[in-house]
Amino acid sequence: MTAKNGIALVTRDDDGVDTAFREDVLKGLKQSQKAIPARWLYDDAGSQLFEDITQIPEYYPTRAETEILQARGSEFAELIGPGRAVVEFGSGSSVKTPLLLSAIEPSAYVPLDISGDFLRAAADDLAAKFPGLPVHPVETDFMRQVALPNEVAELPKLGFFPGSTIGNMVARTAVDLLRNMRETLGEGARLLIGMDLIKDEQVLVDAYDDAAGVTAEFNLNLMRRINRELDGDVPVDSFTHEARWNDDFARIEMHLVAQENLEFSVAGTRFAMKKGETIHTENSHKFSRRTANMLLLAGGWEPQKRWLDSKERFSLLLAEAAPEKSAP
Ligand code: AVJ
Repeated sequence: MTAKNGIALVTRDDDGVDTAFREDVLKGLKQSQKAIPARWLYDDAGSQLFEDITQIPEYYPTRAETEILQARGSEFAELIGPGRAVVEFGSGSSVKTPLLLSAIEPSAYVPLDISGDFLRAAADDLAAKFPGLPVHPVETDFMRQVALPNEVAELPKLGFFPGSTIGNMVARTAVDLLRNMRETLGEGARLLIGMDLIKDEQVLVDAYDDAAGVTAEFNLNLMRRINRELDGDVPVDSFTHEARWNDDFARIEMHLVAQENLEFSVAGTRFAMKKGETIHTENSHKFSRRTANMLLLAGGWEPQKRWLDSKERFSLLLAEAAPEKSAP
């Protein structure tokens, strides 16, 4: 798949294998702590399982953030003002994005996504809900600096990054992204970003290890994807899902735990695991008011306003790409 600017977004070899997926999996499985980047959780089945997760009782973040978006529309309108081009990092959810767009009278909507299929679906959905709003989808890797369409070049921008997706990144990756967002959106831009909050450990663990086992399926699906796409023979049934709180790094970690000594192969390479050894598959960082502000500042964004849901589980922050000022 190739973006309009000619940069290859997905590279496949002669057998149709996504070479970046194979490289990430082989490299990650060779480490002493086995680890696979969380982005590979989201194939079609994984994306559907995540949609299912947003509906389970223990997984509060989606409901909490939606509540904030529903309740604070008039404050967004007042602080952000009309006429901004809303640039969404990731293609919009059918629920959250319309809540924002109907609150602030935007001048355009620009969803960015690496998956052309999700992007077109989201763009069509939004265009139907907001007739007259110019929609300019861009198929791109939003982790990098993005060249926005000419049509929005002169418009003031609002970046929108809901879902606490920033929490899936380790700090240096999150800061790289925030700095690239600042370059993409320009000085004077605003950013509305969701960040999940540090809270009672059991509440967090339950949100990532639900009683119905949907999150476990989401995690195990990664092994099924490896078997299917990378010619693997990973014994999926010999792994169990674990969600653990890492207090030093303030994050929930998802792991797949080997239930016995195992051997398997992936893309022609043999691997062995001891009983109890894990593959680390996702981080979901949680924030306090101060760590959220610190992360934004490190990325070049000045925090302006913070909203919480009524149960104080989740935060939505508004920040500004302020010009650099003299500071002591
Ligand atoms: C979509 C990345 C925000 O970290 O809460 C949900 C993904 N993983 N349950 C999150 C996820 C397990 C989710 N994000």
